[in-house]
Amino acid sequence: MRHPSLIPLSHDHHHGLALALRCRKQALGQIKPMGMEGLKTRAEEFARFFTDNLVPHFEAEEKVLFPLLRSYGDESVPLIEELLKDHEQMRKSVALLSDEKKLGKLLYDLGDLLERHIRREERELFPIFEKQVTPDGAEAVKKEFDKILNRPER
Ligand SMILES: [Fe+2]
Ligand SMILES: [Fe+2]
Repeated sequence: MRHPSLIPLSHDHHHGLALALRCRKQALGQIKPMGMEGLKTRAEEFARFFTDNLVPHFEAEEKVLFPLLRSYGDESVPLIEELLKDHEQMRKSVALLSDEKKLGKLLYDLGDLLERHIRREERELFPIFEKQVTPDGAEAVKKEFDKILNRPER
């Protein structure tokens, strides 16, 4: 079971996986409306999710979760380096979503990257937190997440 402090992040991950699948299907022409109209709709949906959820989500990971995990030792360091590169790649790609050129490929690749990124965090990173975190650490993380994520009370 997920550690309670990580639930807001896992909640975003759950929605992110569904969106990632829609982006890939849209790019493959498996969801209506087909063609540019559908691609644009999906691009807008991704851009909205990015602004509303992933911007604060990445901030919570980069400012709170990753530094805490690094403080536990070297185990998570190479993984965090890769995850940070993914964040940068997604920030760059989202900036291109308003451009119609190669939108299908861009959406497919974004969906693919978001899904792989989320699965690595859920399968590789979160277990390190769950193994190492102390009750005080968990409480501090929860408070910091609440400030950054600014989500309604759960
Ligand atoms: Fe992340
Ligand atoms: Fe995440």
